Amino acid sequence: MLEKQGKKIINLGIGQPDFKTPEHIVDASVEALKNGEHGYTEGKGILKLREAVASDIFKRRKVEVDPENIVIVPGGKVTMWHAIIMFGGEGKEIIYPNPGFPIYESVINYSGAKPIPIRLDIVDNFKINFEELESSINNNTSLIIINFPSNPTGGIISKKDMDKLVTILEKHPNIKILSDEIYSRILYDNTEFISLLEYPQIRDRLIILDGWSKTFAMTGWRIGYGVWPKKYVKVAERLNINSFSCTNTATQFAAIAALQGPQDSVDLMVSEFDKRRKIMVNYLNEIDGFKCNNSKGAFYLFPSIKETGISSDDMENILLNEIGIAAVSGNSFGSFGEGYIRFSYANSEKNIKLACKKIKQYSIKKGWNA
Ligand SMILES: Cc1ncc(COP(=O)(O)O)c(C=O)c1O
Repeated sequence: MLEKQGKKIINLGIGQPDFKTPEHIVDASVEALKNGEHGYTEGKGILKLREAVASDIFKRRKVEVDPENIVIVPGGKVTMWHAIIMFGGEGKEIIYPNPGFPIYESVINYSGAKPIPIRLDIVDNFKINFEELESSINNNTSLIIINFPSNPTGGIISKKDMDKLVTILEKHPNIKILSDEIYSRILYDNTEFISLLEYPQIRDRLIILDGWSKTFAMTGWRIGYGVWPKKYVKVAERLNINSFSCTNTATQFAAIAALQGPQDSVDLMVSEFDKRRKIMVNYLNEIDGFKCNNSKGAFYLFPSIKETGISSDDMENILLNEIGIAAVSGNSFGSFGEGYIRFSYANSEKNIKLACKKIKQYSIKKGWNA
């Protein structure tokens, strides 16, 4: 809108990589179409793709997954939708991270279940507070959602904390778990990714959400996958068939090429993000009233702006209308996101530096935290 009026906006609001889908992936989809691969596929996806996902999981996590338990869907979001619709509903409670990806709370509400937020705070480096988690669980709890690396905080979970989480989950064998691992390959500072798949004791009630959108810069292709326990995989497939039949066929061929082809584009993207992350953390911490932690994953920073005395919504408006920067108000990610603002560093180093300088100049002029 503002751009249409001729105003230059630096977009630090967007949740998608500013990179191109690698050429060999695009070529694989074109070739598939030329080869006549344009009909329906199996509801849960082409076997060759599910096998490629299983091999990729084995390569990265040393965990065996039966391709029959994998359900290909049009985007990571769909696994979230399936799981919440399956385990939500009247009388149920679903625990989810807050601030967190906004769709969790929205779909929990839609399902009729009660959303039970788990507060993530910059003071704890956006880690799970296990006492709070335990006290939130009761007989109505049907599902716990976790997301590491996290949107919007960029937070991660350590092996020690994952062990703690699993110990709690073992005490509650009826509760299902949805682990949103969509940012699992976007990690910094040699951080190792820990997947809940590595804990066999909860596999019979664990759903993994992952996909291609972020890792391979494929947000618009719409493809993701869920790893489902044997007991629920047929229901997930039925939900696919009843709503969209199958995921776009040419896209499925592109996804095979993504997993089986060269991975240097992923490494390149992550190292580029890493450079920008370091620059941005330093710059943001120089702004009066901003406190930004050194996030280790995804491509977001979620500084606290509490000391500026400005609300998250007002900050979003000031940034956009007065400084020319798009960012997202912290409370778009839940009520505990108030007092924060989300910046994505899916933009050039030059633009990130310029944006931070502009905010700093403005903050000096207005005397934030004076
Ligand atoms: C935490 C999280 N999970 C899932 C998704 C959905 O990804 P997709 O575009 O593949 O549906 C996103 C997208 O922003 C996300 O941030």
